[in-house]
Amino acid sequence: MRSIKWKLIIMYLGLVLIVMIVSGSYILLSLRNIEVEKSRGQLESYAEKIYEQVIEDGDTENFQETLLRTVPNAVGIQGNILDANGNTIASTTVLKEPYPLYTDQAIVAAMNGTSSFSSGKKSTDSFALLKEWMSYAASIKGTDEEVNYIIYTRLDAGDMRTSLDQTTKTIIIAVAISLLLAVIMGYVFAQTLTGPILALTKGAKNMAEGNFEQSLKVRSVDEIGQLTSSFNYMASELTKNMSEIYQEKNRLEILLHNMSDGVISFKKDGELMLANTAATEMLGVDKIEMDFSDFIRTYDINSGVYLDMGNEPSKKVTFPVGKQFINATFTPYYNAAGQIEGLVVVLQDITEQKKLDDMRKEFVANVSHELRTPLTTVKSYTETLMDGAMEDKEIAMEFLGIIDSEADRMAFLVRDLLQLSRFDNKQVHLDMAEIEMNEFLSLTVKQNKIHAEAKRQDLTFEPYREMVVVHGDRDRVGQVVNNIVTNAMKYSLEQASIKIYITEDDTYYKICVKDTGMGIAREDLPRIFERFYRVDKARSRAMGGTGLGLAIAKEIMESHRGRLTAESEYGKGTTMTMWFPKELPLPECKEV
Ligand SMILES: Nc1ncnc2c1ncn2[C@@H]1O[C@H](COP(=O)(O)OP(=O)(O)O)[C@@H](O)[C@H]1O
Ligand SMILES: [Mg+2]
Repeated sequence: MRSIKWKLIIMYLGLVLIVMIVSGSYILLSLRNIEVEKSRGQLESYAEKIYEQVIEDGDTENFQETLLRTVPNAVGIQGNILDANGNTIASTTVLKEPYPLYTDQAIVAAMNGTSSFSSGKKSTDSFALLKEWMSYAASIKGTDEEVNYIIYTRLDAGDMRTSLDQTTKTIIIAVAISLLLAVIMGYVFAQTLTGPILALTKGAKNMAEGNFEQSLKVRSVDEIGQLTSSFNYMASELTKNMSEIYQEKNRLEILLHNMSDGVISFKKDGELMLANTAATEMLGVDKIEMDFSDFIRTYDINSGVYLDMGNEPSKKVTFPVGKQFINATFTPYYNAAGQIEGLVVVLQDITEQKKLDDMRKEFVANVSHELRTPLTTVKSYTETLMDGAMEDKEIAMEFLGIIDSEADRMAFLVRDLLQLSRFDNKQVHLDMAEIEMNEFLSLTVKQNKIHAEAKRQDLTFEPYREMVVVHGDRDRVGQVVNNIVTNAMKYSLEQASIKIYITEDDTYYKICVKDTGMGIAREDLPRIFERFYRVDKARSRAMGGTGLGLAIAKEIMESHRGRLTAESEYGKGTTMTMWFPKELPLPECKEV
C-alpha cells in the first residue's frame, strides 16, 4: 500500500468518483428539472384548455358533459373542476356523481385565490392503485375577484420517476465502469512510472555494491527518462573517478613498495596498517605482523616513543637489527579534525652512513695519534737539548738527527694525507702517457736492487714476451709499483725472493709482485687497503711506514680505471696485482 502504484490507483479512483458523482448529480438534477417543467407545462395547458372550452362560456350543470365531450382525455393526465369550496363538480376520470373528493395543498391555496403546483402527493387512482401525483390547482375568479371555480389537474409522476431512476441506474453503471477503467489505467500508468523507478533503484543498489559499469535503458524523454540518463551519466563519471582513484592508489602503492626507505604505519589503537617491502627487508623478516607495542618491544625502542605523541612533531630513534643500523622516524598523522589517527614510521638503513661516520672518527683519531708520537719525541729531545745536552756536541748531533728523522716522518705523513685528500676531493691531475711496462719495471727493479741486496733478498723481473703498453701517469704508476715492491721487501725476511712478472687476459694487463714473505692473515687481507691499517703497527712504524701507502696505491689504480688486489697465504707469501685496462682510458682522463 505504500507503493506509488497503489497511491496512484487510489488517487485515480478518488478523482473519477468525485467527477462522476458531481457530474452524475448535476445531470440527474437537470433532468429532473426538465421533467418537472415539462409536466408543469402539460398540467397548465390542460387546465387552460378546460377553462377555455368548459368554464368560460358554460354553465355549472353542463360542466361534466362539456368536459367529457370537448376536452380530450390526455394520456395519464386528469382534469377536474371544483367549486369554490373544493368540492368536485366535474371530472375526466369519473363519468357521473359521486365525484372524488380531493385533498391537496394546491387546492387549499387555490381556494384562497393563488394558483400553484404540488407534487409527491400519494393517493389511489380510480383503479385503487397507489400512485404519486403531480398536480396543479388554478383558481378561476369572477369579476368581483371572488373565487368561482378551481381547475384541478394532475398527472402520474411515477413515469417521470421511472425514467429518472433509469437514468440514475445508467449513471451508476457508468461510474462503476469508469472506476474499473480508472483502476486499470492507474495500474498501467503506475506501471510505466514505477517500472523505470524500480530499474533505477536496482541500479543504485548495484552501484552501492560496487558495480559501476552499468547502463540503464532510457525508454522515454520525459522526466524519468532524464533521470535515467542522469543516472547513467553519474555511473559513467563514477566509473571514471573510481578508476582514477584506483590508478592513483596503485601508483602510490607501487611508489610505496619501491621506495628505498622503509615505511610502516600503525593505527591509533596500535594495529599495524601497512608495511612496505623496504621495511620488511630492513627488519630482516618475511612479513611484519606485529602491533605497535610488539614493534617497540622487539626492537627495544624505549626513548619516549608513544602512539599518542600529542603535538610533538616527530621523533628519531636509531636501533640495530643484526649488523645493520636502522634510523626510525616516528611521525604522528592527524585527521581533518586535528585528532591523532595513527603513526607513520619511516625506516632508513644508516649502516653505510654510520660506517663512514665511524671511519671518519677513526681517521681523525689515527691522524692525531700518528702525529702525536713524533711530536712527543721532537718535544722531549728538544727539551733535553735545551736542558744542557747541547753542550755535548756528539749527543746534540745524535738528538738533532732523531728530531730530523721524526720531522721527516711527519712530513711524509702530511704528504700522504694531502695526496689522499686530493683524491677524495677529485683534485688529482693525471699526466697520461703511454708507458711500456717491460722497460718501466726493469728500471724500477734496478732502482730497488740495492735495498733488496741489503736484505739479501732476490728481487727479479721477468720481462713479458711482447711489448706491454699501458696508459697512465708515469709518476703515479711508479709510486704504486714502488710502494708494492717496498712492502714486499719490508714484510719479507732476509733471503726471500720477490718476483715481478706480467700476465694478461682479454681486458687487462696484470702486473704481479710475488714475495715469499710473512704473508697476511685471511682476516686482515681485505683491510690492508684501509687508511692507517697495518697488520703489525710497531713493525710498520719502525720501517717508516705510515699505513697509507696501499690506500693511496688503490686510489691511483682506480683513477686509472684499474684495480689493485692482494692474495696471500699467511706465513708463505703475498702476491699483489695491479690491473691496467687494455683499452684507452676515457678522454676526460687524458685531458687532466
Ligand atoms: N707484501 C706484504 N706482505 C705482508 N704484509 C703486507 C705486504 N704489503 C702490505 N702488507 C701489510 O699491509 C699494511 C699496509 O701497507 P701500507 O699501506 O703500504 O702501509 P705501510 O707500508 O706504511 O705499513 C702493512 O702495514 C702490512 O701489514
Ligand atoms: Mg707501504
